[in-house]
Amino acid sequence: MAELAGVYAASHGPMIVRNWGKLAPAAKESLTSAFSELGNRMRAARPDVLIVISPDHWVNFFIDNLPAICVGVGEVHEGPPEPWLKAFPHRSLAGHPPLAEHIVRTAIERDFEPSVSYRLALDHGFCIPLWKAGVEPLPPIVPVVFNDLEPPYPSVRRCFDWGTMLAEAVASYPAKLRVALLATGGLSHSIGEPTMGRIDEAFDRDCIRRFERGDPRALIDFLNERLPGAGNGASEVRNWVAAHGAARGRGFELIRYDPIPDVYVGCGFASWNINPKARRKAEGGSRTR
Ligand SMILES: [Fe+2]
Repeated sequence: MAELAGVYAASHGPMIVRNWGKLAPAAKESLTSAFSELGNRMRAARPDVLIVISPDHWVNFFIDNLPAICVGVGEVHEGPPEPWLKAFPHRSLAGHPPLAEHIVRTAIERDFEPSVSYRLALDHGFCIPLWKAGVEPLPPIVPVVFNDLEPPYPSVRRCFDWGTMLAEAVASYPAKLRVALLATGGLSHSIGEPTMGRIDEAFDRDCIRRFERGDPRALIDFLNERLPGAGNGASEVRNWVAAHGAARGRGFELIRYDPIPDVYVGCGFASWNINPKARRKAEGGSRTR
């Protein structure tokens, strides 16, 4: 049977790449250190397949056809179409149809209604964390697109339940496979609205404390109250909530939080300690918070 070998979360702000040359040395050092530690932890899990939860930034879907949640079941996914991601080392990324289809079947059996796509392009939301964390060689990827961009969003509770279901799908997959899950996006940021550039550090720190405590009900109540005021981009924290569900609501370990104005994002990185043995093997596994 397959095993969920690691659960992780990371921010994916485009300016991490687009603005890299203009970032202050301290910001570069902070991001490099955080991604490096994330990569150490992900490699230590030795995943055969990665489930990556990210929004789609108007690359595959638009308001004429906007699924709440879509699973990529294709043999291959297209690399990022953003012109400023030309240096990303993969023009295409392998998929894992058997696991993806098993996830879709499990979802439907449990009264979820996923959309499916046989051909997704994986934009910066997927590719920046994979690239910057140095996840190479890149395992096959099962992309799961959450609509965090445009209301109506899936509810925070539904996102948690999706994570729980994904963990159950992995556990019931009838082949030996090590699977890791990476959720990308958040924390607070504001894009294309009057508060653009604002980072709500108080929200981010309150949010992180609740993820650390591992009390899903309190986390969901907090996000239902505070998420709408933390900038439209904060909606991507839904993906972290799904990771929290996959980790069975355990508290996470913060790798780093840094509100970086030049990136426009409260940048957060975390892992859930679901496999202490793998964690101990991680090289350089010190907290860099
Ligand atoms: Fe995003």
